[in-house]
This record gives sequence, structure tokens and C-alpha cells, in this order.
Amino acid sequence: MQNSWINSVVFYHIYPRSFKDSNSDGIGDLNGIIEKLDYLKDLGVGGIWLSPVYKSPMVDFGYDISDYYVIDSIFGNLEDFKLLIGKAHQKNIKIIMDFVPNHTSDKHPLFLKSSASKDSPWRDYYIWHEPKKNGHPPNNWLSVFGGSAWEWDKQTGEYYLHSFLKEQPDLNWRNPVVRKLMFQVLKFWLDLGVDGFRVDAIHHLYKDKLLRNNPKNPSFKPGKDDPFDEFTPLYIKWQPEMFEETANLCHFINKYKDKFVVTEVYGEIYQLMKFYQACSKKLPKKKQGCIAFCPFNLQLISLPWKASAYKTFIDEYDATLCNGELPNYVLGNHDRSRIATRIGTLQARVAAIMLLTLRGVPFIYYGDEIGMKDVTIPKKMVFDPFEKNIPGKGLGRDPERTPMQWDNKPHAGFSKVTPWLPVSGDFKKFNVSSELKDKKSILSLYKKLIHLRNNSEVLQEGKYYSLPVSTDIFAYIRAGETGKLLVVLNFSAKKQTINFKNFAKGKMLINSYLDTKHEKIVDLNKLILQGNEGYVFAV
Ligand code: NOJ
Repeated sequence: MQNSWINSVVFYHIYPRSFKDSNSDGIGDLNGIIEKLDYLKDLGVGGIWLSPVYKSPMVDFGYDISDYYVIDSIFGNLEDFKLLIGKAHQKNIKIIMDFVPNHTSDKHPLFLKSSASKDSPWRDYYIWHEPKKNGHPPNNWLSVFGGSAWEWDKQTGEYYLHSFLKEQPDLNWRNPVVRKLMFQVLKFWLDLGVDGFRVDAIHHLYKDKLLRNNPKNPSFKPGKDDPFDEFTPLYIKWQPEMFEETANLCHFINKYKDKFVVTEVYGEIYQLMKFYQACSKKLPKKKQGCIAFCPFNLQLISLPWKASAYKTFIDEYDATLCNGELPNYVLGNHDRSRIATRIGTLQARVAAIMLLTLRGVPFIYYGDEIGMKDVTIPKKMVFDPFEKNIPGKGLGRDPERTPMQWDNKPHAGFSKVTPWLPVSGDFKKFNVSSELKDKKSILSLYKKLIHLRNNSEVLQEGKYYSLPVSTDIFAYIRAGETGKLLVVLNFSAKKQTINFKNFAKGKMLINSYLDTKHEKIVDLNKLILQGNEGYVFAV
């Protein structure tokens, strides 16, 4: 791939409300991010993905946009945003924005006009439908956030579709004007200098034209499973037009130089591959190179933390990708429980080694690098509408969105006032300031790994080959033009002795406890791994 920066970048995902509050309102903002750019630079990060900062009523905390051209005053203004881009670029840090094409806020002027009357010229910008004869919604489609995906509009006597909250009406992408307007949004931000986009919920973009009912899911357990899973969402998402639209989007952005697009999809490997195929069809080989594209690979978030499961999945994913198709790996995001909560503090260090030594673009969720965990949110303090709609099932996302822990001062140095979500009780132990001083902290481990990756042709460009070892160990080779690295990860708490017959000696570069002498020569014929330990060797 000709696109230069994407081959070596490590991305850092910022949830702006929770990163750093500069104006003492308890909510993070753009100037807060600017204040912390040096921290990110020092960490070795080369790109930032910003969750939405557009004008929004914040019912879904920015994923409900009422003006795509305005920065919400909670976060600052356009000048602050330009400053952020400028300062980040000076430090060689790229910025990609969240782009939310599937839905707007119900307060967006287009929806207000669309809902004004049945024959509004804007009616078809959204998906409206008359009720069934009995007054019920047109079909059985469910909203991801609970209940029917259809909301009754008393004023015009029709239902409108919302795949997420009722305050997030779905745009009608079959309307060419809608498409045009959304591409104009991309142009505006690209002209301003952003380096690409993370595209929200792309697999929801198109719905079945005939509005057919989704089939019942036979394995659904009522009362236990997420209510959305009652039906297989065959017709409300994953329509073929969506692949074509992703390709159009890439084609459009390809006119700009050196951009990157990553689409949010929770999908199987074969579904991810369809995205790559669609995009490469649209961008013939000789025209490729301006844009780098990948669908998010979010599978590591839900796989059981077992060496064999990871090996099997990564082997298949890596082998299925064609030459030039960009892999990526993610351990967490603002919608899912944090890695340190899912697998524990010690294994989170093993996971860090894996994330930063696999092929492709790694994404780090803010705070994971200091070992932040989910915070239990008392009922009265719940913000997330998902938890409010479907309480008590662990679906709420506030726990993984708590304020970044900068130091051991009040409010963890995130803000001078009480933050919008509570700070974790463990912030005196897990915070940037203390961990920077501690040579064995998880932050020191992340830093070492990122710097190793930033300076390693093998990690940036090398091939991946896994090694059969044992059920508890995931081991692989990264082989580049300049050498080979062996990564050995003990997914268990048990001590393990391994015999790597093909390698006599290895030079130790990093171990997860950061307690082994750097460059120590180790006998790989009798490698002893402590419980929860991971290693990177030069071999
Ligand atoms: C996915 C985003 O990551 C999530 O936070 C949001 O609520 C939905 N899409 C709807 O935009």
C-alpha cells in the first residue's frame, strides 16, 4: 500500500466527554485534548479517533447530530477544532472524526422539516410508513436500544424508523439528495484537514425495500438475552447496497491524499471481506493509494479469552485478507466493557503485547493504557439511554466511559469540578502521573510496545505466522525483511515451560511484567513463562 502513515500508525480512541475537561464544567472538551497532545506524542500515538464532537442534543452523547457543520459548545468551537488539527499535525498525529451517516438527531432541521407534514418536500429524507390496519408498526423490526424500531408520529399519522433511539431517526439513503448532503459533510471536514473518518453503524445504512419482517431467532432466550436478539436482523441491516455505498464513500475520499477510513461493523470474517472487495472494485489498482480503508475487526472484544480461540480467529482473519488489505485489531471501545475488567489487570498486559505486535492498525481505547476498569454506576447516576431502556442486563455503556485518570488529585486531575460520570475508585493507583514514574506499570509497558512498533519494520510490515504450542499459549512469528520476532503469550495464570525447537536462542525485547533484563539472551528450547506472562523476542 502506498499510503505511508497508515502502515505504521497506532491509533488512540478518545471519547471526548471523558478525556480532559479544560473549562471546569465536568465534561471533557477539545482544549482538554490539546492540553494532552504531548502525553499522546510521548506515548507514541500516531493517530486519534475522536468520537463525535458535532452539535447534538446529546441524547446518545453525540451520536445524535443536529448540525454536522458545527462543533457542540460543550466541546468548544470550530476554531478550537482547527487548533487541535493544527497542533496534532505539528506533532505528526493524525485526526480522524466520527461520521454518523445512518441517522441524525430528531432535532436536526431536516427531520423537523420532514416531520412537519406528510407532503413535506423533505418527507422522503427519512423512512416513514403508514401503520398496519390495526394501528401497529409496519413490521417487527426492533431498535438496537430496545423496543420497536418504529416511532408513531401523531401529527402526521405515520411511523418513522429509528434503528437506535427514537431521537435518532434513520436517514433514507435511497434518496439521492440525502446521499449528496452526506457526502458534502465529508467534503467540509476533509477540506478542513481531517485525516479520515470512523464511520458509525455502516451496516445499518440500508434497509429492505419491501420492509419484510425479520425472522424469529430460534436460540433467543427471553428475559436473558439482549431483547434485540429476538429476531435475526436480516432485513433491517446488512443490505447489499451498503457495501456499494461504502465503496462510493472510499471513492469520494480517494480524491484527497493520504486519508483513512474505518467502518464500524460487528461482523463475521466473510462479512468484513465483502467490504474490502467492494472498495477495491471501485478503486482500480492503479488508482489506489490515496486512501487506506478497513472495516473494523471488533471480534477480539467478544472472543472468550482463550489462547486457542484467539489463535483460530486470528489465523483465519489473517489468512483471508488479500495482499494490500489492511488488518486491524481493537480490544475495547466506548460501547463495550473494558479489557482490564473482562480479563483482569495482569492479562490486560498480555493483551497489550498482542494488540501491538499483530499486523495492521491497532486501536487503543483511552485509559486502557493505564489499566482503567469499568466503573459500577449507581442507578441514580445512569446516563446511558441503553441502560435506561433495558436496565440491569449489563448493556449500559457508562461503566467504560468514566473520566480519564490523569493523577491522584481530586477528580483524578480530569476536572476541577465533579465530573459528569464518577471517577473510578482505583484512580490513586491507576493514573498517568504515577504510572509514568513507575517503570513496571502497564503504561510503561504500552509505551515500550508502541515505541518498539514505531521503530520496527518487522512489526509494521512483517508477515504473521502462528505456532502450535499448547492450549494456554498463543505464540506467533512476525517476519519482515529486517528480521524476525517471536511473540509468546501465556493466557493462563499457570507457569509454563515451552520448547521452541526451531529457535535455540532469543533476545528478550519486552516481557509483560517489565522485570527481565532488556536484550537478555534466553534459551528458547526451555522457555519458562510465569503465569500471565507475555514476551517479545528477536529470533
Ligand atoms: C455505534 C456507536 O459506537 C454507539 O456509541 C452509538 O450509540 C450507535 N452507533 C448509534 O450511533
